Amino acid sequence: MRVSCTVNGAPAVADDVWEGESLLFVLRERLGLPGSKNACEQGECGSCTVYLDGVVACACLVAAGQAEGRDVRTVEGVASGGALGPVQQAFIDAGAVQCGFCTPGLIVAADDLLRRVPLPADPEIREALAGNLCRCTGYEKILDAVRLAAARRAGRAAEPGGSRDADGPGGLGPVGSPGR
Ligand code: FES
Ligand code: FES
Repeated sequence: MRVSCTVNGAPAVADDVWEGESLLFVLRERLGLPGSKNACEQGECGSCTVYLDGVVACACLVAAGQAEGRDVRTVEGVASGGALGPVQQAFIDAGAVQCGFCTPGLIVAADDLLRRVPLPADPEIREALAGNLCRCTGYEKILDAVRLAAARRAGRAAEPGGSRDADGPGGLGPVGSPGR
């Protein structure tokens, strides 16, 4: 079948799509957008997180046909023009990337959070990213990156390592419980 949708602001068409194919497969293998990562294909890790009509979703759980006529935005579309978007840059500056496999999904999830909650408290960050698993960083640098992006968007000076909440070190709390 043919699937037509909008991807990162431009019309996109994929032909010969198998009925059981996922949106993630179409994005990566048919449309040349490898940013969204394929790790579990079961909605557990968040590596494939994209926007679907402005709402975050695991692309591995979306049948390609469900994307027909809809608006998809991937981590590639989080960039502003040819430059990195503020969340992408914050992940680099905060040292929140190691192997990078989780990073695209985390960036989309963090971008979504900051659109909804410009200055989130730490529990809100942890909750928003609870469906995104990282095996490398220990999560603290990821929290730093989101705080940094939020502070920059708000026009405030911020250094990685700062916290708005004295809730102590640790992971993201309910990490491992899929947020979507
Ligand atoms: S690859 Fe989609 S949630 Fe893991
Ligand atoms: S940086 Fe490797 S899984 Fe997160």
